[in-house]
Amino acid sequence: MPNILLALNWKMNKTPSEARAWAEELSTALPQTSAQLAVLAPAIDLVDVASALKGTPVQCGAQDISAHESGAYTGEISAAMLSDIGAKYAIVGHSERREYHAETSQKVAQKAAAALAGGIVPIVCVGEGLDIREKGEHVAYTVAQLQDSLEQLSLSSAAQLVVAYEPIWAIGTGKTATAQDAEDMAAALRQELRSLYPAHADQIQILYGGSVKPANIAEICAQPNVNGALVGGASLEVASVVDMAAALR
Ligand code: 13P
Repeated sequence: MPNILLALNWKMNKTPSEARAWAEELSTALPQTSAQLAVLAPAIDLVDVASALKGTPVQCGAQDISAHESGAYTGEISAAMLSDIGAKYAIVGHSERREYHAETSQKVAQKAAAALAGGIVPIVCVGEGLDIREKGEHVAYTVAQLQDSLEQLSLSSAAQLVVAYEPIWAIGTGKTATAQDAEDMAAALRQELRSLYPAHADQIQILYGGSVKPANIAEICAQPNVNGALVGGASLEVASVVDMAAALR
């Protein structure tokens, strides 16, 4: 079974000075936990966060990554740039980027491949909206989204992949999927991963995201196919991160 990953997505929150203060506070408050922690910070915060967390077991990463290696791509950040500052992860295909930046699964697949080629672990996000859930089509929809979002990935690079299931109706709404909902989808995604990458599928971390907080994280992450959480709102306060890490002990 893969280790549990507690991935913290700050989204567009925290100035560099706030980020530094958070990272310094966390490094002195870290509880004993078996979970790996990773902070996915805004790009402008990352150098400071990486330096404040140096020497701690907490990793850092970006919330997006370029599909390109380098060159004339104004505003983008490459895998090589992230690797150079010691970042480990990049979220790709978060539903907010799919919606507000028109990112298609094809683009997400290119970004995931570029991340892996540059030594960054992509956290590939998938998940359905409320309309699809209400029609009962969520499993087929999300599995197809995963297939499309991984299309460029080689068999061997899949060993480094992380997948996050984030139902859009549960993001920032306080409506968490039940632990059973999370498990049902994670099991379906695992099955798809087994057919795509038989050698690695059982080691790929599948995270759940959507209104995860200290009170519900343990039950969600105890599900057999759920190997961690991708947390938004509850990642902003150090105290709540400490409580979540402690709940995963
Ligand atoms: P919330 O935890 O705020 O619901 O956000 C989930 C999310 O989108 C993490 O990527």
